[in-house]
Amino acid sequence: MVFDHAPKGMLASLPIGFKKLGFATHDFFDQIADSIKGHQDYKQTQQQQLSHLLNNCVACHKVYKIDFVSN
Ligand code: HEC
Repeated sequence: MVFDHAPKGMLASLPIGFKKLGFATHDFFDQIADSIKGHQDYKQTQQQQLSHLLNNCVACHKVYKIDFVSN
């Protein structure tokens, strides 16, 4: 996985739980891409992998929020 588009220092500033969820979500997308290439069973991908993936979206949004802090 490459993060060459992230601003310098951003990754280090993020909470570890946030990063874990974020990386896991990236990995899910990679797995979905790989399995589509392998078996092309779109129904299984939609019903199982996608709903699994969406749990990560919901979990993260429930816990984390980006706030603007002015100095
Ligand atoms: C690691 C944490 C994390 C994961 C995983 C995550 N998000 Fe987010 N997402 C955020 C944060 C933080 C914001 C900014 C929301 C805020 O602070 O108001 C955001 C914002 C968004 C927004 C914009 C919402 C708005 O009000 O403009 C969308 C759309 C979105 N996410 C979709 C997704 C989808 C779809 C997934 C799963 C594939 C996902 N996100 C997974 C953290 C995450």
